[in-house]
Order: sequence, then structure tokens, then C-alpha cells
Amino acid sequence: MVSYKELGLVNTREMFAKAIKGGYAIPAFNFNNMEQLQAIIKAAAETKSPVILQVSKGARNYANQTLLRYMAQGAVEYAKELGWEHPQICLHLDHGDSFELCKSCVDFGFSSVMIDASSLPYEENIALTKKVVDYAHQFDVTVEAELGVLAGVEDEVSSAVSHYTKPEEVVDFATRTGCDSLAISIGTSHGAYKFTPEQCTRDPKTGKLVPPPLAFDVLDAIMEQLPGFPIVLHGSSSVPQEYVDMINKYGGKLPDAVGIPEEQLRKASKSAVCKINIDSDSRLAFTAAVRKVFAEKPGEFDPRKYCGPARDLMEELYKHKIINVLGSDGKA
Ligand code: G3H
Ligand code: 13P
Ligand code: ZN
Repeated sequence: MVSYKELGLVNTREMFAKAIKGGYAIPAFNFNNMEQLQAIIKAAAETKSPVILQVSKGARNYANQTLLRYMAQGAVEYAKELGWEHPQICLHLDHGDSFELCKSCVDFGFSSVMIDASSLPYEENIALTKKVVDYAHQFDVTVEAELGVLAGVEDEVSSAVSHYTKPEEVVDFATRTGCDSLAISIGTSHGAYKFTPEQCTRDPKTGKLVPPPLAFDVLDAIMEQLPGFPIVLHGSSSVPQEYVDMINKYGGKLPDAVGIPEEQLRKASKSAVCKINIDSDSRLAFTAAVRKVFAEKPGEFDPRKYCGPARDLMEELYKHKIINVLGSDGKA
């Protein structure tokens, strides 16, 4: 058993309380490799933003859980080296799908876990979430739960349609599970294709897809039921057109990729939404930069020469999110 406190990590409780009061949101960035982690920490340290490092089950399988844990520990030390005296870094399990996985992360030094039982019937979601909460709270590890189902692929949990969170269920759910934060469904979804072309309109000038707005009325109703309770938005990548264009220009194929417009995330950040999950945008930045190097310098075979530019572009992306979208700069 390793306590996250020994690793210099923090849980989400204070982060979220301050974010709700201050009208901003904490960035939750997924990482699978060293370059992403370096870029996240540099961006957070330079902007003095609290940050949540998210590890999915897939990331654990890809990178090895032991290595990831030590990487997170190293990230705290790296942040200090960069001049961030008291780093506010949380290590969080993204989309945990079983009690055993959540327990293993708690025992392994994570400061926060998500149990995503949103695909189960309501009472089963409550029972599993409560079991994780009861275990995690013994060690002061915070727990995110999910109610409502996002469209698209949620790790291994999948759903073809989006089922918005029902505001009339949230009080019962939060009270009976004791969860610390609640991920809701208001129209976001995972990946780079968040809406089908049929769900969008087309900008007559550019021909680009314009997605439908998020269901802010559902968010408002949830906040009315649970005043001041931390709300989480998954699937919040914006799928920047510049990265999509770069990928397509340099040999990729991402037709009609579309994300959540940044002004909607800005609006959400000012509400009780205090954690915003971003993964796909980082993948797009990484891929765009690597493709550019490969296209322009076909003789290049030193990974540092293409992973380096990828890291730079991700750092720029993370800083942009922190400063211009979530407003979490200067809050740590
Ligand atoms: O919500 C899912 C995250 O983007 C993680 O994705 O399962 O491919 O690591 P992954
Ligand atoms: P995106 O695919 O929109 O980046 O969402 C990531 C996410 O929700 C991770 O849990
Ligand atoms: Zn997610």
C-alpha cells in the first residue's frame, strides 16, 4: 500500500471547492507517455494551474502501472524543479470499470479514482459506486462517479446514443453513494467525431460542420438540485481545426472530425463544472506534429526529432486550454 500523500500528490476535494467558488475548471489531461506528461507538467507549472493527470485502463495496460505511478511521482519533482513550489497535482484513474481496478489504483498511490458504472442499471450503479467510495474514503482518496451515458466509446463501455443525466436522480445518487464529484451527460462525447454530420449544420462560408449546443438547461437543472456539488464533463476536446487540417495535409485522413466549441466549455467552466476532461486534442496535436516532420523530413529517424515537436505543440495546447478556456491559471 502506497499513500499518494507520500508521493506529493493531492486529491480533488480542495481543488474542486476552490474551482467552484472561483468560477473556473481544473484541467484533466490523459497521459500515456513521457512526452505528454512533460508537456502537461510544463504547462501547469508555467501557468501555476492545478492539474489532474488521468490514467485510463488502456493507459495502464499500455505504459505499465508501476511505471506510470513513478512517472507521476517524478512529475511532482519535475514541477518543483521548474519553480512550482507547491505543485497541485492529482493522479486520477479515468473510467475505472470495476471495484478491483479502483482498489488497485487506491492501493498503488492514486489520489482520485473514477468508477464508471453508468452503463449499469441505476441501482447497480449506486451499489458499485458506494462500494468504491467506502473503500477509497478510508485513505482520503476522492471518487468520481457517472450518471447518464455519453454517446461514443467510453473505454470499454460503449453506447450508441447519448442519454442525458436525469436531474431528478442526482440528489438520490449523490446522497446514497457519497461520491465526491459527478460526471454528467449533456451532449459531449469521446473522441474526434463527437457528432455525425447529420447532427450538425454546415457553415455556408467554410463548409465546416457546426455542432449542436450542449444541453445547458440540463446542467442548470442539475446544479439547482445539487447546489455547489462538483460536476465533471467528459468528452470535452474541441478538435481544433488547425490540427485536423495539418493531419489531413500531411497524409492523414480525418474527414468531418468535430468537437465541442471552446466558448461552450468556457461557459461551463464558470459554473459548477469544475473538471474538464481532454484527451483527443492532445492526440491530435501529437499526430499533427509528427506527420509534419515525417512529410517534410523523410530521412529523419531520431524519435527525439519528431516527438520533440509533438511535445512542444501539446504544451502550447495545454497552456491555451488552461489560460483561454478553463481559466485555471494562477490558481495553484
Ligand atoms: O475517455 C477515454 C479516454 O480518452 C481514454 O481513452 O481508453 O483510449 O486510453 P483510452
Ligand atoms: P475527449 O475524447 O473529448 O478528449 O474526452 C476525454 C475524456 O473524457 C477522458 O475521460
Ligand atoms: Zn471520459
